[in-house]
Amino acid sequence: MPIRNFSEKTLTAEVLKRVGKAPDKRARQVVQSLVKHLHAFVREVRPTQEEWFQGIQFLTRTGHMCDDKRQEFILMSDTLGVSMLVDFINYGKVGKATESTVLGPFFVAGAPEMPLGANIARPGTPGEPCVVTGTVKDLKGQPIADALIDVWEGGADGFYDVQKPDGTNLRARFRSDAQGRFHFRCITPVSYPVPHDGPVGKMLVATGRHPMRPGHLHFVIEAPGCDKLVTHLFVKGDKYLDSDAVFGVKDSLIVNFKKNAAGEAVCRYDFVLKPAGLRKSPARRAKRRH
Ligand code: BEZ
Ligand code: FE
Repeated sequence: MPIRNFSEKTLTAEVLKRVGKAPDKRARQVVQSLVKHLHAFVREVRPTQEEWFQGIQFLTRTGHMCDDKRQEFILMSDTLGVSMLVDFINYGKVGKATESTVLGPFFVAGAPEMPLGANIARPGTPGEPCVVTGTVKDLKGQPIADALIDVWEGGADGFYDVQKPDGTNLRARFRSDAQGRFHFRCITPVSYPVPHDGPVGKMLVATGRHPMRPGHLHFVIEAPGCDKLVTHLFVKGDKYLDSDAVFGVKDSLIVNFKKNAAGEAVCRYDFVLKPAGLRKSPARRAKRRH
């Protein structure tokens, strides 16, 4: 029997049958699911040929916008809530462990290591002075010494250093002390827009959304034997906490940046890392679901 003359009704089953021959089990599952959902999307939306081509052009422009400094596809994933969904699936919520959130596109590996107490803002950097202090502990409350604490933030003008030509600023790495403590200086983070001069910006406008994120400090905290924690601390009272453009806010990560006697903002937070391997492998999770 010739395998041809497909119709809207019969096509999906044949595509699924063909990609079902993929020798790698995971690749088979991923591509079959993609075909199933993509065909369902097209059946639901019923695009005209012009609309379908507009979609292709949109994705093409998104790709052209990407280089070593700008990743428009990650931004797309962030603003459509996909990055947070992947984060929920992979990091989850475990006991008192600090919750995670999006990494974002402005992390830079190998930021300068600074001694505890240093200011991550270069002299003359505009912004309200801020002191950040806290601890890194495990789930049993034991201090974690020598944890690597990577921190970065945007400037008072709403831009990260990598978006400007002036070199490294407002990012550093610290090590917790023997009691798991850390402290450093920075500027109080302010709300800022995600890059919105490309296809993602157009998508936000077309869907009636703003590009703003509430003010936050980024952290990546690593220690041997623990899962890497990727998170933020958000500023309590920020007007964008309930409409973050990338859906990253969690109550447990909102901090009251209180003023001290010297008029500086103080942000205090105790991070809790979970032991490595508490996550389940993707294959095991998939099996449980079906
Ligand atoms: C950020 O917080 O740096 C960020 C996160 C997601 C998209 C854009 C920016
Ligand atoms: Fe950020």
